[in-house]
Amino acid sequence: MKRIGVLTSGGDAPGMNAAIRAVVRTAIAENMEIYGIERGYEGMINGEIRRMDISSVGDIIHRGGTILKTARSERFVTPEGFQRGLDMIENFGLEGLVVIGGDGSLTGGLELSRAGVPVMGLPGTIDNDLAYTDFTIGFDTSVNTVLNAIGNIRDTSSSHERTTVVEVMGRNCGDIALYAGLAGGAETVLIPEVEADISSICKKIIIGKNRGKVHSLIVRAEGVKMTSQELAKVLEERTGIETKVVVLGYVQRGGSPTARDRMLASQVGYRAVQLLKEDSSSRAIGISGNRIIDIDLEQALKMQRIADTSLIRLAEILS
Ligand code: F6P
Repeated sequence: MKRIGVLTSGGDAPGMNAAIRAVVRTAIAENMEIYGIERGYEGMINGEIRRMDISSVGDIIHRGGTILKTARSERFVTPEGFQRGLDMIENFGLEGLVVIGGDGSLTGGLELSRAGVPVMGLPGTIDNDLAYTDFTIGFDTSVNTVLNAIGNIRDTSSSHERTTVVEVMGRNCGDIALYAGLAGGAETVLIPEVEADISSICKKIIIGKNRGKVHSLIVRAEGVKMTSQELAKVLEERTGIETKVVVLGYVQRGGSPTARDRMLASQVGYRAVQLLKEDSSSRAIGISGNRIIDIDLEQALKMQRIADTSLIRLAEILS
């Protein structure tokens, strides 16, 4: 294989740039031509494809976001849009593709692979919701960003003796809430995978207050059925303690990637190019038990994610 492409798609994640850098530099080291496709599948359809060289990825390993830009393409899921994308791959003579993104982006890659394009999927999402890998690129940075925010919220929450509901991202996956809540010492962590018990949350807040606690922090994943506002209202009514809501939002998707995310991105990016060089069929690349792994892309996307019950139990015991 001589000429390959790389794209980022879906919600951006810190560490995507480090992954692009690894793909570009490994490809060049292997004497391959590497093309960057801008704005994900949308840019593929539009032919926004350019040759990349060593210096095009200089000074980006520490930068959040993605230099290739990203998009959620609605056109790519139509037969016409998909065909246009395929035509562009052919026009530019791309013999393989590295797709960096979450579930939807890798599913787009799977469709391309069914149409004959070898695709390597890299897990780029803050959500940590891909079953085949222990961690996704961006998750660790996002958890640390939430952790910093929790520290600030704790200060003001203590001064005013309030309860604060901190809403974090993650779609239907509770990992950002679980990890940040555990590491941040939150009183309660609410995740979509476990039904919330309002009475026991209220009881915990009251017991805490009775033993001298001056604040309570509830970390709620956005996928939990009851909204943060509804939750705050019910907690305030049933505990008599003023309760505020902080929605962290997109702050969780930016920022300089942690060492862990940079390492993961560099390692999976390298493996992706090696696999394309070996003319491998389409694979999903990730990390399992601290080892870089690759598995059949279709199989990877069929896997069902199971929440880590030991962490859920730990969060309950420690809170
Ligand atoms: O998948 C990453 C993510 O940030 C989710 O946690 C969140 O639900 C979603 O993207 C937000 O998407 P958008 O950028 O389209 O608002």
